[in-house]
Amino acid sequence: MQQQGDYIPAFHFHRLTPWYDRFMAGLYPEARIKGALVAQARLQPGQRLLDMGCGTATLTLLLQQAQPDAEVHGLDADAKILAIARDKALRAEAGIILDLGTAVRLPYPDGSFDRVFASLMLHHLKRNDKQRALREAFRVLKPGGELHVADFGRPHNRRMALIALLVRRFEEIADAVDGLLPAFMQEAGFRPVEETACYGTVSGTLRLYRARKPAASGDAPP
Ligand SMILES: C[S@@+](CC[C@H](N)C(=O)[O-])C[C@H]1O[C@@H](n2cnc3c(N)ncnc32)[C@H](O)[C@@H]1O
Repeated sequence: MQQQGDYIPAFHFHRLTPWYDRFMAGLYPEARIKGALVAQARLQPGQRLLDMGCGTATLTLLLQQAQPDAEVHGLDADAKILAIARDKALRAEAGIILDLGTAVRLPYPDGSFDRVFASLMLHHLKRNDKQRALREAFRVLKPGGELHVADFGRPHNRRMALIALLVRRFEEIADAVDGLLPAFMQEAGFRPVEETACYGTVSGTLRLYRARKPAASGDAPP
């Protein structure tokens, strides 16, 4: 994939970013996937939520609509896509907070969020950075908090296996297609890590995960 600065833009080339929302809504089961992520997070009033790699803030806005009494942050490394996100938030009159920053060094204190979301962003990172981002998600979560992930996963049928042959040529995507994301979440300290759903898409199988930061230090991995 083409790396620009120290991140890969939403569609790999900045000039395609303005088309991101139209493509996602037209070619992906986007509403189903993002709706399922929101539902599985069981949001409560007063919670602090973080959407890592928020892109155009479609999920960030859904989180705010689902729980208007939550404090919702979206973070992205790309200032250009955040400008689109800010426009959308203004038009929706939504009080979300949009931050420029990187998932591998989150600009938030330890234990400051109840839920962290990573929708279609981990496959933009090389293996080391995936592992760093997951450790960062673990750090900023409160004990008992949850990480909710949507990303590429092992193909679940022959058609998806054919697509996987193509997409796994990209180093950043290969680990996800090979089914390694749950192991990386466990390495970061999450227990349990559960797969919650699986979808066929034009770019292959997408899987949803829920991973919990243990509530007590005794539950933490060695
Ligand atoms: C495919 S888009 C997904 C956007 C959104 N989460 C969604 O589900 O539609 C991936 C996003 O991750 C962002 N990204 C890539 N590397 C990042 C990093 N290191 N830190 C934060 N965001 C990053 C990109 O700028 C892009 O907006």
